[in-house]
Amino acid sequence: MDSRPIGVFDSGVGGLTVLKRLVEALPGENYIYFGDTKRVPYGDRSEGEIKKFAKQILNFMREQKVKAVVIACNTTCAVIDKSEYDMVLFDVLKAGAESAVLYTINKKIGVIATTRTVESKSYEKNIKIIDKNIKVYQEACPEFVPLIEKGLYNSPIAYETANKCLKELKEKEIDTLVLGCTHYPLMVEVIEKIIGENVKIVDPAIKLAYDVKDYLLKKDLLNPQIIGKTKFFVSGDKDNFIKTAEMLLGEKIENVLHVDIEKY
Ligand code: DGL
Repeated sequence: MDSRPIGVFDSGVGGLTVLKRLVEALPGENYIYFGDTKRVPYGDRSEGEIKKFAKQILNFMREQKVKAVVIACNTTCAVIDKSEYDMVLFDVLKAGAESAVLYTINKKIGVIATTRTVESKSYEKNIKIIDKNIKVYQEACPEFVPLIEKGLYNSPIAYETANKCLKELKEKEIDTLVLGCTHYPLMVEVIEKIIGENVKIVDPAIKLAYDVKDYLLKKDLLNPQIIGKTKFFVSGDKDNFIKTAEMLLGEKIENVLHVDIEKY
């Protein structure tokens, strides 16, 4: 039994889609969520910047005395070396690759993600470790994150942008599409309509949440509470963050605290 919180972080609101899955699977846990709303988007930043941001955020998480951290940002997972940290870290990208392999039948998987994640080829590498015969088609959708951060995930401009981004993937006969950025589940309705109902859409956070649950059960680290609490921290803008968090989690979010993350 362990009442320490679980840390969850992302560049902004995207990781809230992961937090939602975690709360569904593990409602009794306490969570510390950090959204780097000052420095979002990460997707076009250099590897050096993303590594530095991850280090600062993980220092902050350590100070919060978390028992584990869920890296709810594919772009960060694609770039950092987790073995450099003596912390229990869960990786949304690995969970996404593993889920996609379980779903595909025709062995043609599409991945949509940020530019940095696509360039790293991390999805392809993780998928091919499991099954080298799978074909992976990747597409960067750099315009999605700024739209989603503004709350425009179901707008006409979201349709227009998704249409452009998914155009080539639609020709590849994929049967599985991984949402390789934690912001994208917020646009899932739009993406589903465009890619078509024959393509299985994978939200990596579903498997990830069960991986975390498995780990806590095996290590006897579950929090012995029925309903846990979440504390929210952001580095920049709070308004859209609160709106998206309330919409996703279905409850009022009162206390979002500001952190000067550059200090860490
Ligand atoms: N949501 C993040 C990801 O999963 C980062 C998106 C961004 O900030 O560009 O990759």
